[in-house]
Amino acid sequence: MSKTRLEGKVAIITGAASGIGEATARLFTSNGAIVVIADIQDKLGIAVAASIGADKCSYVHCDVTDEAQVESAVHYPVSKHGRLDIMYSNAGVAILSPSILELNMGDFDKVMSVNVRGTAAALKHAGRAMVAAGIRGSIICTGSIASCQSGYGPAGYVTSKHAVLGLVRAAAADLGRHGIRVNCVSPSGVATPMGCEATRMTPEEMEQLTAAISCLKGAVLKANHVAAAALFLASDESEFISGHNLVIDGGSTVVNPTTLQIFEQASNEA
Ligand SMILES: NC(=O)c1ccc[n+]([C@@H]2O[C@H](COP(=O)([O-])OP(=O)(O)OC[C@H]3O[C@@H](n4cnc5c(N)ncnc54)[C@H](O)[C@@H]3O)[C@@H](O)[C@H]2O)c1
Repeated sequence: MSKTRLEGKVAIITGAASGIGEATARLFTSNGAIVVIADIQDKLGIAVAASIGADKCSYVHCDVTDEAQVESAVHYPVSKHGRLDIMYSNAGVAILSPSILELNMGDFDKVMSVNVRGTAAALKHAGRAMVAAGIRGSIICTGSIASCQSGYGPAGYVTSKHAVLGLVRAAAADLGRHGIRVNCVSPSGVATPMGCEATRMTPEEMEQLTAAISCLKGAVLKANHVAAAALFLASDESEFISGHNLVIDGGSTVVNPTTLQIFEQASNEA
């Protein structure tokens, strides 16, 4: 496979100072793209951009809950590099909450503000920049397996990730008219700072948990697997794919483990 799948393209990735976004910034640049990292962790974001190389990557401060900051972050690659081909809206947070009975409404608002409002602002302003320049771009959003099932996080997080998928589908309709594709990547548990903090697990524990719930055995989900899915959706290889939710979960959401267990027990007893 060619290592220049994004040659000539300019991308912005929110939440790329760390984890999945950082892995994607590295993969996109190694495939020929110029990448702007947009995040709130300035020191980390600047260090990641510098480690990739100033000719290929730069950093801009952007709190995605503030629409004006999203708008100016989107303008940054346009003014610096003359275009925007790819928006990867990936910034997200998860806040632990044991049950809806204990739901802290302030935490709920915070999760919705980053995950949903931030995604909506990214879609709006990247969409506007692409339409204005007549670019048939690609927008990717990070959902989660919590975009399609519950049980993978607290109520606020599950609600927010279902909403991200709703936004992707709505934007695919609106922006499709302009030739812009909008898709979602939905990973299972990845041992990133957010993943480990939200589950209060060590990276090893988190990887073991994800492996245990996957149908696919013998592989460990890493941030790079999600980056590879984002690369496919960002590249021209996915030219006719829009409104899709690419689930990266080793098959865990397509099998009902309770039914499986009951059938296995019944066949063992027969
Ligand atoms: N790690 C997992 O298990 C997992 C699973 C499914 C989906 N996700 C999603 O993946 C995405 C990336 O998370 P990650 O796991 O790489 O975690 P991470 O903590 O490594 O990265 C998240 C990044 O988002 C940034 N961020 C947070 N709030 C922000 C804001 N208001 N504005 C701009 N940036 C902000 C953080 O500074 C951080 O750099 C999130 O949307 C998350 O919900 C993660």
